[in-house]
Amino acid sequence: MSTAESTTTTADAQAFLRDFRSLSVIGETPGHGVDRQAATAADAQARAWFTSLAAQYGFRTEVDRTGNVFALLEWTPGAPYVLVGSHLDSQPTAGKYDGAYGVAAALHAGRRLAESTVPGEEPKYNLAVVDWFNEEGCRFAPSMMGSSVYTGKLPVEEALAIQDKQGTTVAQALEAIGHLGTGTGPTAAAYAEIHIEQGRSLEDTGITIGLVHSCWAAAKYSVTVHGEQAHTGSAVIADRKDALLGASMLVVLLRETAQAFSGAVLHTSVGQLDVYPNSPVVVPSRVDLVMDLRSADEEVLAAAQKLLHEGITRIESDANVTIDVQQSHAWGLNPYQPAGVDLARECADKLELSHAPVFTLAGHDSINMKDIVPTVMLFVPSVDGISHNEREFTHDDDACAGVDMLTEVVARLCRGELDGAK
Ligand code: GLV
Ligand code: MN
Ligand code: MN
Repeated sequence: MSTAESTTTTADAQAFLRDFRSLSVIGETPGHGVDRQAATAADAQARAWFTSLAAQYGFRTEVDRTGNVFALLEWTPGAPYVLVGSHLDSQPTAGKYDGAYGVAAALHAGRRLAESTVPGEEPKYNLAVVDWFNEEGCRFAPSMMGSSVYTGKLPVEEALAIQDKQGTTVAQALEAIGHLGTGTGPTAAAYAEIHIEQGRSLEDTGITIGLVHSCWAAAKYSVTVHGEQAHTGSAVIADRKDALLGASMLVVLLRETAQAFSGAVLHTSVGQLDVYPNSPVVVPSRVDLVMDLRSADEEVLAAAQKLLHEGITRIESDANVTIDVQQSHAWGLNPYQPAGVDLARECADKLELSHAPVFTLAGHDSINMKDIVPTVMLFVPSVDGISHNEREFTHDDDACAGVDMLTEVVARLCRGELDGAK
């Protein structure tokens, strides 16, 4: 933190911290993180937190056909909206900041803009604070679902028909929490989002604001390893078609693939694995898993995918299994509009907040939004870079500085300062 203006003692900062704390206890886990998977009771409670506070701050709320919640402030009837937000859903044992910080910050940026707008001097664009549905993609894959539908990348019928492990569809789950809305949401003129970094670069360099200029490319695959069920005691080893052995070799192959490239330019993991029938004395007949590969270099990603496919053919033969691989989600190494990064830099300079350009390695709804409208993506530091973990933490000073920063950015976007940015 480098400025005296953005301390946690201002009334704005205290109001933000009070509201953020009231959000942080929704879906709280015993380890003091949160579990608010999409369209669960805890997600519904977080959405109620959002709509009731938004109403208190003078916004009208509406829910679109994929459960995105918009809190609208209409200064100029008929004008498009600057959207600002993030997501309230979480991974199963998650931290309190991922996504939630960005929604709370957006609500407070909106509240502050509403309070400071003088009649007769309304901005060019209206304002919508948004809670995107199912950014995490853990209960229902793929991730970034609400913004994918909003930006036309995922057909709504397809999204609504996706099932969780119990066979509940997105439509049924949204209906059950009373959040299956209608319509396509407000028309966007621009988008802004703030998020914790989920990495260590800002903390390591003592910088308060990250100006996100590009995202790492990502490729995610749904994989099924097919074997044959057998008795773990009696089946002859040479006869076995052990799906879990094949899956385990795949997990190791992914790590070896990352290590085949020097300089840590490739990140790989299996994050989810379901074993069937998952019973003590049974050689598994099937394993479903999800592979995730990311790099800042699309050539590295392509070379890694080639290595992976060669390795998969080897595993099929070595483990006596067959492996089906389907790409489930991917995005390219895309820049955010440079004019948006410049605008954010000017805002940080004005507020005397230290800043640096950064990549995002994680996915965000802004990755979708930047493809349809001028977009600004901001980071605040994450202590030790910890994320998707109950110990995720960002200092109050940094969180409050981020709200000040977002308020300034959104004010400028509402004035049309990023119009025409490519
Ligand atoms: C988030 O959605 C991610 O895949 O990083
Ligand atoms: Mn997030
Ligand atoms: Mn996340």
